[in-house]
Amino acid sequence: MKKLKTAVLISGGGTNLQALIDSCADSGYPAQIVLVISNKADAYGLTRAKNAGIETCVISHKDYSSREEFDKAMNEKIIASGAEFVCMAGFMRLLSEWFVDQWHNKLINIHPSLLPSFKGVDAQKQALEAGVKIAGCTVHFVRKEMDAGPIIMQASVPVLSGDTPESLGKRILEKEHECYTESLRLIASGQVRIVGEKAEIL
Ligand code: GRF
Repeated sequence: MKKLKTAVLISGGGTNLQALIDSCADSGYPAQIVLVISNKADAYGLTRAKNAGIETCVISHKDYSSREEFDKAMNEKIIASGAEFVCMAGFMRLLSEWFVDQWHNKLINIHPSLLPSFKGVDAQKQALEAGVKIAGCTVHFVRKEMDAGPIIMQASVPVLSGDTPESLGKRILEKEHECYTESLRLIASGQVRIVGEKAEIL
């Protein structure tokens, strides 16, 4: 079975990365992770990748004078790894238009809200402040605008009374893991088509 070679960009704990690693361990899963890049040297996700025998690389954005220079350094590593597809999994940097264009329709992100609501940081806190009763997560193709692009999959969770950003975030995170692994599976097996600016599941 030909597997989609995938690079994963992280900045932190990497539970979504772990979910992808676990799925990729299944011989029937149509993707494989060939590289994990973190912009933070202390990201625990790097340990998760190393434990799974995956090549890792730290590229600090602080070492580059512009967003595009940083993105070009990442791009070089991604190309060298043979990756054909990129997943952002808790990667806390905005990408340059240059990078987004390089990876048009080959770059996806997961966000802890039902987009287009609550873009940006602290999405769970934004949801609580808005008083919504349903929250959730979104997997989407990346466009140059933040947290925008064709939506591949969403899942919802209830907002419960007494919820804090942390308790709501934990409930959402469980759904994130399911949505991210299922989205990559659908894409890698050719079951996602983009028509106009909408993603269709075949
Ligand atoms: C997730 O909530 C993801 O949606 C957001 O950052 C968080 C990363 O979590 N972009 P993890 O590093 O995958 O555990």
